[in-house]
Amino acid sequence: MSPLTNKRILLGISGGIAAYKSADLVRRLKDRGAEVRVVMTAGAQKFVQPLTFQALSSNPVHSDLLDPAAEAAMGHIELAKWAELILIAPASAQVMAKLTCGMADDLLNTLCLASEAPLALAPAMNQAMWRHPATTANAKTLRDRGVHLWGPAAGSQACGDIGPGRMLEPAELVLQAETMFGSSDCLQGKNVVITAGPTREALDPVRYLSNHSSGKMGFALAKAAQRAGAQVTLIAGPVNLATPAHVKRVDVVDAREMRAAAERAADLCDIFISAAAVADFRPAAAAEQKIKKQEDHDESSIALIKNPDIVAGIAARVERRPFTVGFAAETQQVEQYARSKLQRKNLDMIIANDVSRADSGFNSDHNAVTVIDRNGSDTLPPALKTDLARQLIEIIATKAQQ
Ligand code: PMT
Repeated sequence: MSPLTNKRILLGISGGIAAYKSADLVRRLKDRGAEVRVVMTAGAQKFVQPLTFQALSSNPVHSDLLDPAAEAAMGHIELAKWAELILIAPASAQVMAKLTCGMADDLLNTLCLASEAPLALAPAMNQAMWRHPATTANAKTLRDRGVHLWGPAAGSQACGDIGPGRMLEPAELVLQAETMFGSSDCLQGKNVVITAGPTREALDPVRYLSNHSSGKMGFALAKAAQRAGAQVTLIAGPVNLATPAHVKRVDVVDAREMRAAAERAADLCDIFISAAAVADFRPAAAAEQKIKKQEDHDESSIALIKNPDIVAGIAARVERRPFTVGFAAETQQVEQYARSKLQRKNLDMIIANDVSRADSGFNSDHNAVTVIDRNGSDTLPPALKTDLARQLIEIIATKAQQ
């Protein structure tokens, strides 16, 4: 069941060429079980006829603040109270500016003022308008007020320009709405094991080899899986994060400890997700005492040996093999390298993240991922790791059932 089932979504449509995509958006929201009512600005009606949305939503389209007949049916305050989410798609620069100022000069912005429902905008405008300092400032003000900004995406625009300002595709907007309403119970009764964080490979009692993984991605997945109804065991390398509620946590330090904990927990699990950044190598021998600096040596070297590959070991099981998901942190040819890991490690799915991006990946609150399995790939829009985790759990749950 989709998290959108029976949810009351008020879809605001403002004037922009992307308004034609909103017809598909209504259909997709309805397919997920949402009840949809549409409000159109005057500008929107120049692009698409209200009748289209009336037919698709099975509800009359609202457009006039001062129409006595419409008010008699469902007044604007009633409509504002009815909504569990107001989504404006496309949201033009004009709508964003009006919302920033708190204007109430048409039905759509009046509803936004009168409603306590969460407000999400899917900006769509020319790239120069999106980049303009006025729009940038409006976007910041709206975000600071708790308004969700979904997109925009970048690419070629209807006007011929290339850059940021394209409305997210309807499928992506639906995913965002599902994420906002929280996971369904898609993992009810399932046992899920997740590894997270780095491993530390000791050189001596005070030094180690490690990496920049913070554990945020794995912890977000653990929380999302638990909320989706799973019994979750989280095997955590050394990180500084609180344990998500109702999740069983096993702390480990190095790769061999992580493997032992993973093998134990995997015996009972349905889904194994390897989000940890496991050190591929460890020092061949960890010194028992602190290694002393040799004043007469300008160079030094450390002999390394390979660590066990934890996720490949789980995926190689003949008996009690869970649906096995890996992550791939890559800095170049992301999809190609990830796909080769999917095959080499015999995984059911791999989630590739481009860790060359400064704004995502290791130790960031954000990530940008592509989900890859043997049937294809799906790139999710960059998002908070907490939001991505909910989307990934939905995808993993669906694939694990197939
Ligand atoms: O922790 P964060 O700061 O939130 O950052 C998240 C992340 C970037 C660490 C995470 O999203 C991620 O990409 N984790 C995997 C990083 C990685 O080390 O990838 P890899 O390409 O080296 O390994 C591929 C897969 O094999 C991974 O699932 C890894 O967990 C697993 N592996 C790797 C080596 C090894 N010895 N054992 C393993 O199980």
